[in-house]
Amino acid sequence: MEATRRATFLSFQPPAITEAEIEAVAETLRSGWLTTGPRTAELEARMRDYLEARHVLAVSSCTAALHLSLVALGVGPGDEVITTSITWPATANVIVHCGATPVFADVREDTLNIDPARAAELVTARTKAIVPVDLYGQPADLEELAVLGLPVVEDAAHAAEARYRGRKVGTIADVTCLSLYATKNIAAGEGGLIATDRDDLAETLDDLRVMRRGHGALYDIAVPGYKANLSDVLAAIALVQLDKVEQHAAIRARHVALYDEGIADLDGVEAVGRDARDVHANHLYVVRVTFADRDDVQRALADENIGTSIHFLPVHSLSAYRDRLAPHQPELPVTERAGAEVLSLPLSPAHSDDDVRDAIAALRRVHARLSG
Ligand SMILES: Cc1ncc(COP(=O)(O)O)c(C=O)c1O
Repeated sequence: MEATRRATFLSFQPPAITEAEIEAVAETLRSGWLTTGPRTAELEARMRDYLEARHVLAVSSCTAALHLSLVALGVGPGDEVITTSITWPATANVIVHCGATPVFADVREDTLNIDPARAAELVTARTKAIVPVDLYGQPADLEELAVLGLPVVEDAAHAAEARYRGRKVGTIADVTCLSLYATKNIAAGEGGLIATDRDDLAETLDDLRVMRRGHGALYDIAVPGYKANLSDVLAAIALVQLDKVEQHAAIRARHVALYDEGIADLDGVEAVGRDARDVHANHLYVVRVTFADRDDVQRALADENIGTSIHFLPVHSLSAYRDRLAPHQPELPVTERAGAEVLSLPLSPAHSDDDVRDAIAALRRVHARLSG
């Protein structure tokens, strides 16, 4: 084990951008297409193949993807939507944007994904949909959730490469939403994708994502749509990233194995669980820290020049949500305990194996210093 701190700061999750992405952007700019155009169409076609889905629509973010999906399902004022609280606030915000109320179900102790039994207890006459999150890249329990008989909008922001019981994420829920944000497994900087096998939803989502322009001087719109289309400049980056998706997945899988081995004997450091029946997208490597206060450990790692992050602070505990919880919102003991313990270690295809070894060595030094 290295006895001394790393000389330079190891970023938590830098994007893996090369000359190929830079050239693709330059080519797009030279082409004259700045907004949605042929590259966006190509991205949709390629993602249809990749996700094995009937329809893929490119949009401006996963937040927009989730929002438009709920709008397309008719979620509105007075409705409730069941989701989880250990997620990026966007998952819940979009429910509020529809005028509906998020109802948070507690999560499974092992994967931190929505606990289908807890979700079932929360269904009321007002429940309009369920939004499970494939947290860190582990698909939620989609079969158990389907039994509830509610439309499922899957938040697969972390899960581009995931498979659930052999089936590609993107084909199982009514709608699956992915993110192309800067840190994501297919990173364009910003952007999102909606996958669905339902023709009716695809048509409605297509109307909602952008106000269509007519072919002549006259134009008409079928619905008062949003402005949530993807630019070709970003689609060009995503296309190059898609070419590398398997190569990047292999690097992250190797890094995950290094971490698993490197922390195996540390008491009070435990990786969040995975379901061996599924393909995990390895978007994040998250441990639960119980040997010392998580925030102290994060600060100590920063002093060691190791960048980390927290995924996530429970949404229901954030200022915006404290006063807008459903009257029947249950206690969320598993979520709250996890929210105080989770710590995400550096994981990116831009990192070398030695970077990951540095992060492990630093964590082991911090463990030796702070435990007990
Ligand atoms: C679980 C989850 N859902 C939704 C989002 C929103 O994605 P976007 O930034 O593309 O809107 C994120 C973003 O980090 C996320 O982590």
